[in-house]
Amino acid sequence: MVMNMNELQNRIDINRLPLHVGIIMDGNGRWATRRGLPRPLGHREGMLRVVDIVRCASDLGIKHLTLYAFSTENWKRPKEEVEGLMSLLLVYISKRLEEIYKNNVKINVFGNMNDFSDNVQNALTRAMERTQENDGMVLNLALNYGGQQEIVRACKKIVEQGISADEISSKVFKDNLYSQGQPDLDLIMRPSGEQRLSNFMLFQAAYSEFYFTDVLWPDFTEDEFYKAIIEYQGRSRRFGGV
Ligand code: FPP
Repeated sequence: MVMNMNELQNRIDINRLPLHVGIIMDGNGRWATRRGLPRPLGHREGMLRVVDIVRCASDLGIKHLTLYAFSTENWKRPKEEVEGLMSLLLVYISKRLEEIYKNNVKINVFGNMNDFSDNVQNALTRAMERTQENDGMVLNLALNYGGQQEIVRACKKIVEQGISADEISSKVFKDNLYSQGQPDLDLIMRPSGEQRLSNFMLFQAAYSEFYFTDVLWPDFTEDEFYKAIIEYQGRSRRFGGV
């Protein structure tokens, strides 16, 4: 029997939601290729799922959502594909900003924005400023982001602050990550059949539950999001205890 969205949603215990969900959005290219379409159309459809899932997660009551939208390694892709992804990001930020704002979502960026064009940097800065007072869901866009680079950056920041070896703790370290002040990831979802972290949130993934599915990101509807939350709620998390 195929359940409709509400039945799936009804199975979620809203008192036991993961505090912080990360998604490694993957499979846009394969989605397009399987349909005989150019890859950019896969990314465009993927952008529409970003709109849907951000709304769905915030409506459900998720407090922190991190989307891996562009990795430090993605610059290796053909120039046209990188430019296409940048223009999609601009479209998303400029066309959807008011909707995001009205949904009480606060936008944040994890990653080095300096490598982006002025247009993209300005749009992201405007989006962060516009939504900074919002206190609903925090939406972290991981852009030009790499987990190893983030750890190295935190080390440099700690040294620059003159913090001594004795003073360094997990707490001090976390305060110097992009995710400062936010909880570690409870749940990481990765569509498209790949089962790896790909340099995503290495420090914050210490005790994350993983949810893998063969569904490609452009097919990752609200139902798929609910299914992942339901599976997460069925897991037993022991954090090293018994
Ligand atoms: C992976 O698919 C996806 C990306 C590298 C980029 C994710 C971007 C979007 C979902 C659209 C724009 C984002 C925002 C935040 C508006 P892939 O190209 O690696 O797919 P493949 O593995 O099938 O080739």
